[in-house]
Amino acid sequence: MKPYNVYSSGIKDVNFGENVKIVEPVNLYGCFIGNDCFVGPFVEIQKRVNIGDRTKIQSHTFICELVDIGKDCFIGHGVMFINDLFSDGGPANGDQSKWRTTKIGNKVSIGSNSTILPVEICNNVVIGAGSVVTKDIIESGTYVGNPAVKIK
Ligand SMILES: CC(C)(COP(=O)(O)OP(=O)(O)OC[C@H]1O[C@@H](n2cnc3c(N)ncnc32)[C@H](O)[C@@H]1OP(=O)(O)O)[C@@H](O)C(=O)NCCC(=O)NCCS
Repeated sequence: MKPYNVYSSGIKDVNFGENVKIVEPVNLYGCFIGNDCFVGPFVEIQKRVNIGDRTKIQSHTFICELVDIGKDCFIGHGVMFINDLFSDGGPANGDQSKWRTTKIGNKVSIGSNSTILPVEICNNVVIGAGSVVTKDIIESGTYVGNPAVKIK
């Protein structure tokens, strides 16, 4: 018996719109990706995620379960979404009742290396590179920093 188990990444059970462009390697499973989207290399998109039409996901981004992204968004390189806040002092260890949802509106651009905690972000928002979004954003504008605050 081998002393390790190997699982393959790839594209499995994904519901695609038309004219989607993907640069492998990626790990996409059980998600929905709308028309004319782009997904760059080394991206993981987990099950039940929805990506709206014309949204672009740049390389090295991680989109976990319970995330919904609107149309015409730009998700930069290495953007991390979070659904488990370690609210009871550590990981939920698969207890999905502890996971939280994220909803990103339309025309939202998220700068590279940002972290998005479980929040709602309204339409027409820019998040600066390296930001950490900890609270809902309900007004259009540009937000930067950790925690992200509105600058314009
Ligand atoms: C947020 C952003 C859009 C702001 O651009 P801008 O409107 O031209 O703003 P400015 O460069 O005039 O900066 C305004 C202020 O915010 C600060 N700031 C800008 N971007 C910041 C960031 N990402 N994090 C923290 N502070 C930032 C600036 O230092 C400046 O501060 P000051 O007023 O104290 O001098 C831009 O800086 C950014 O982060 N873009 C992300 C780009 C990206 O990740 N692209 C991915 C594909 S390559």
